[in-house]
Amino acid sequence: QRILMLAPEVAPFKKVGGLADVVGALSKSLAARGHDVRILMPRYSEMNDFDGAQALERPLIVRLGGHEAYGRIWQHTLPGSEVPCYFIEHNQYFGASSVYVGPSGNEDDNGQRFTFLSRAAIDFCEQMDWIPDVVHCHDWPCGLTPVYLNTTEAERPMGRAASVFTIHNLEHHGWFHRSLLQFAGLPNSVFRSDGLESMGELNMLKGGLYHATKISTVSPTYAREVQTPDGGCGLNALLRFRSSDLIGVLNGVDLDEWNPETDPHIPAHYSAQDFSGKAEVKAALQKAYGLEVDSTRPLFTVVSRLVNQKGLDLLAACCDRLMSDMQIQIAVLGTGEPSLEYSFDQLTKRYPGRFGCYLGFNNKLAHLTIAGADCFVMPSRFEPCGLGQMYAMRYGTVPVVRATGGLIDTVEQFAEGQGTGTGFVFNQATVDALYYAIGWACATYYDRPQEFRNLQLNGMAGDYSWDASAVKYESIYNWAVSTRLAAFA
Ligand code: ADP
Ligand code: GLC
Repeated sequence: QRILMLAPEVAPFKKVGGLADVVGALSKSLAARGHDVRILMPRYSEMNDFDGAQALERPLIVRLGGHEAYGRIWQHTLPGSEVPCYFIEHNQYFGASSVYVGPSGNEDDNGQRFTFLSRAAIDFCEQMDWIPDVVHCHDWPCGLTPVYLNTTEAERPMGRAASVFTIHNLEHHGWFHRSLLQFAGLPNSVFRSDGLESMGELNMLKGGLYHATKISTVSPTYAREVQTPDGGCGLNALLRFRSSDLIGVLNGVDLDEWNPETDPHIPAHYSAQDFSGKAEVKAALQKAYGLEVDSTRPLFTVVSRLVNQKGLDLLAACCDRLMSDMQIQIAVLGTGEPSLEYSFDQLTKRYPGRFGCYLGFNNKLAHLTIAGADCFVMPSRFEPCGLGQMYAMRYGTVPVVRATGGLIDTVEQFAEGQGTGTGFVFNQATVDALYYAIGWACATYYDRPQEFRNLQLNGMAGDYSWDASAVKYESIYNWAVSTRLAAFA
């Protein structure tokens, strides 16, 4: 199959969260299975692994409402694969380093920025004379592409391409003033409540979900949750309406990037057969965060965006109790809401040698922080899939997670006395529930070391590869293509 992956972020070039990891790793896995996968994303002012990219001579002409915009296309390959990646350069839209705030610093401009990206996908394919069977769109920034495809004349080269829209996170919709419709050059007929319109404004995510040939989300449990009032972020009715076209496919892990036996970001290597290197990694982690270097203290870590979704305010709120009641250490790597950054900074000052934080984005430190820990904490309020817990289990680090979304689908509850399970799972998104879960993990670490080791080994034995999920995406693509072609029969 020919598949165009369209995304605002793709690892390793640009990453804000797990979406980037997923698009990179899934593309690699599909290419290895013989598909012609190509990636299209913006070129931001700062990119990783971009050396060697080449600019194409011909400019890309993007056809918007009543005007054309020009972009320059850069070409490169996805590291570790032969997947061609194309980057659209446009200074006004993407000339800053941030993905979700453009050069103007004004988030309202995201409407034009991502309309341009969504439209560019179609013009790019036609101008490159490479017509995909499916355009695979990721989250609201690509929401208008399915709308464009459904309003493209069938005789045009892209007129029959199918679309698959993957929901990584339903919380962000991309709401903009209705005048964006004219800028986009979309007909008024799509601006209606069963389409792009939402309370008088234009909602990119909603448009994508209405118009996509098929919809997927990143875990089976989240696919059910988004159809409920609690998890639907206002789009539950729409997703129930489309439930026969909606499927949950669990994310995998890039096993080359996240491998304790070869990881270049950690100072020693280890495996399920030989754990000895993990102690050296733990010591390096303790040093990196200014913690007391002590192999016997249970060390809990966090690597996360610091936003409401992740429930880390619950952790901040129970740290005083944790520090006084248990002999644990905590290290937090994250960036986000200033109030949370402030809390973690204060805790670092209050508990020197026992609590540490690094407030920023740092991939190398993320590897160390996951690998060197005993436990990895994710008290998420909701979690479409979550990658951190899977990375942790790969590294023999036991996850402590709330029972929601993909965390339910990936972490199996510890059964005390039997040594089964892969982590500690708690139900309520409350400070107390998190406190008790960490307490349980801490008690297991000290009092039942053999069972704690079993948890580590069970996690390391799990299959987190993309293989099974890539096969599921293949069938979604087939399904989308046959549904789309049937519409023209
Ligand atoms: P989300 O996509 O909601 O942020 P995931 O668990 O799916 O959550 O993925 C988060 C990804 O981002 C993981 O690869 C994690 O290691 C990484 N990450 C999050 N915050 C940071 C940070 N401050 N520095 C480095 N990596 C980070
Ligand atoms: C989102 C979700 C996260 C998921 C990631 C990749 O950012 O918050 O749970 O793992 O996308 O699909």
